[in-house]
Amino acid sequence: MLAGRSLIDPSDFTREEFREIFDLAHQIISNPEKYSKSCEGKILATLFYEPSTRTRFSFEAAMLRLGGKIIGFSEPNSSSTAKGESIADTIRTIECYADIAVMRHPKEGAPRVADQYITMPLINAGDGGHQHPTQTLTDILTIECLKGNVENKVYGFCGDLKFGRTVHSLIKFLSNYEGVKFVLISPEELRVPEYIREEVIKKKGIPFEEVEKMEPYMGELDFLYMTRVQKERFFNEEDYIRLKDRFILDIDKMKYAKQDTYILHPLPRVNEISTDVDADPRAQYFVQAKNGMFVRMALILKLLGIY
Ligand code: NCD
Repeated sequence: MLAGRSLIDPSDFTREEFREIFDLAHQIISNPEKYSKSCEGKILATLFYEPSTRTRFSFEAAMLRLGGKIIGFSEPNSSSTAKGESIADTIRTIECYADIAVMRHPKEGAPRVADQYITMPLINAGDGGHQHPTQTLTDILTIECLKGNVENKVYGFCGDLKFGRTVHSLIKFLSNYEGVKFVLISPEELRVPEYIREEVIKKKGIPFEEVEKMEPYMGELDFLYMTRVQKERFFNEEDYIRLKDRFILDIDKMKYAKQDTYILHPLPRVNEISTDVDADPRAQYFVQAKNGMFVRMALILKLLGIY
């Protein structure tokens, strides 16, 4: 039963529970009209303490397309946070007005703490460099639409694997499936955190390689998941400047990929995918962004217990 639950980390739900969400998302894609009044009378609150385009807009669009309403802030200084209010007090107040809430916060673990003070469902929309489970829903729905299922595939992850929370959540999710393999492409300084390597990948016995070049591995990938170097999480600008353009995917490099290797990116993109790749049918990142809305519609319906 997903009704009334919160989604803070990919390990909060079982495979079967995620299956329910994806099945509903596929149904919504094929008949969105059917769901256009499902959330009438319900309110979704969005609490964004960090910048966002896709995550916040797709949650808001999802609720509006379900016939519900939205409240929230996208700039914490416009809320009582600026006066020094704690997360606990803010979320308890929001619960007086909304039925479900979405929170993005720069501090790792903040949504987990907030969730302890409320009974309405809370969704983690990204906590610092830690996790971003609804981006994973977006990624998995896209993978299913393109290849049918997530099993028995080679996934390349490229860029900032240290601070990239979407990478951590997607690896955590995929590690529960059979036949997956990871190729982790990054500069040495930006490798996946130890807890992901030891507690997730190795513990689940997933074959993986950590490499520093893209081209030699392109030909074996089913998906290449590109990421932005997370400027806001660096302690000094010099390191950021040194590392930011290490991996740039362009049409020349696309020649090394198979005809059915799809390119994903959670977006926003900075320089890591050259815009000339956008016209290649294997570039699927804007489709991915659209899927984010459908899968968030399914998640809202499930957590509110409507479907
Ligand atoms: C990602 C995030 O916020 O972690 N964006 C998103 O939600 N689609 C990726 C990023 O900011 O690089």
